[in-house]
Amino acid sequence: MGVKLETSRLKIFNTRADLSSYLSQHKTLDLKIGLVPTMGALHKGHISLVELAKKKSDLVVCSIFINPTQFNNEKDLTLYPRTTEEDINKLKRANCHVLFLPDVAEMYNEGESWNINLGGLDQRLEGEARLGHYQGVTQIVKKFLDLVKPDFAFFGQKDYQQFLVISKMVKKLRLKTNLVMCPIVREKDGLAMSSRNVHLSMEERKQALALNSVLEQVKNNFNKKSIKSLVKEAVEYLNNSQGIVLDYFEICNGNTLKKAYSKNSSHLIALVAAKVGKTRLIDNIILQ
Ligand code: PAF
Repeated sequence: MGVKLETSRLKIFNTRADLSSYLSQHKTLDLKIGLVPTMGALHKGHISLVELAKKKSDLVVCSIFINPTQFNNEKDLTLYPRTTEEDINKLKRANCHVLFLPDVAEMYNEGESWNINLGGLDQRLEGEARLGHYQGVTQIVKKFLDLVKPDFAFFGQKDYQQFLVISKMVKKLRLKTNLVMCPIVREKDGLAMSSRNVHLSMEERKQALALNSVLEQVKNNFNKKSIKSLVKEAVEYLNNSQGIVLDYFEICNGNTLKKAYSKNSSHLIALVAAKVGKTRLIDNIILQ
């Protein structure tokens, strides 16, 4: 890392041209640039990404953009929480340097299409539940990477599959950015922080704790039981938990997300997705 920047004022850009021109003024200073792409409704998990980005880079660019191409459900897109004023204040308090806040017309041309072969990684788990989701994610992340040309880009472990899919794209297209995965940030009672948690009623908020509990149980019993019985018991637990409509609970190879049948793989992860009321939540835990 080189020169330290004046951090007292968050600079906000709405157009690609303005952001590019600002960033090009800094290129000559040989600064390390960190990118934190978000869809807003910022919580402590996002701020932890900004904080890590500040440790690893000189200039931190956070983007807030609710990307329509990654939603396969119009209602989900409409209901996605929008809290721009509060987000700006949180980024100011975190001493983030730059906020990129474009609108849809700024990021997409009419009728634009995108298709990248992600080797099937985009079609399992979340990809199966939300068709085309990861095509949309990679489409927008590629645009941000091209625009900002960051040295590092930061993503949360909560969207573990997203991290793998973006890594695959970066490798495939030989992009220069290093991707950094940051640990899941949880509420005191264990609920993984998510922008969608605001949709939970008090009752659902309590019911949602079953997701973290089951992941903890699986981790605690990991050395004592087979994968088959861990998954069976976890599924039973979730199916018997009040208010939970389970989508999937799987223990997978952490690199391919293929189902794991033995503990031979060096990297195993348990992933869960469920609906609590009308809200779909995901969570995961790294097992080995
Ligand atoms: O994780 C998110 O918030 C989004 O999927 C991302 C990476 C900002 C792309 O829109």
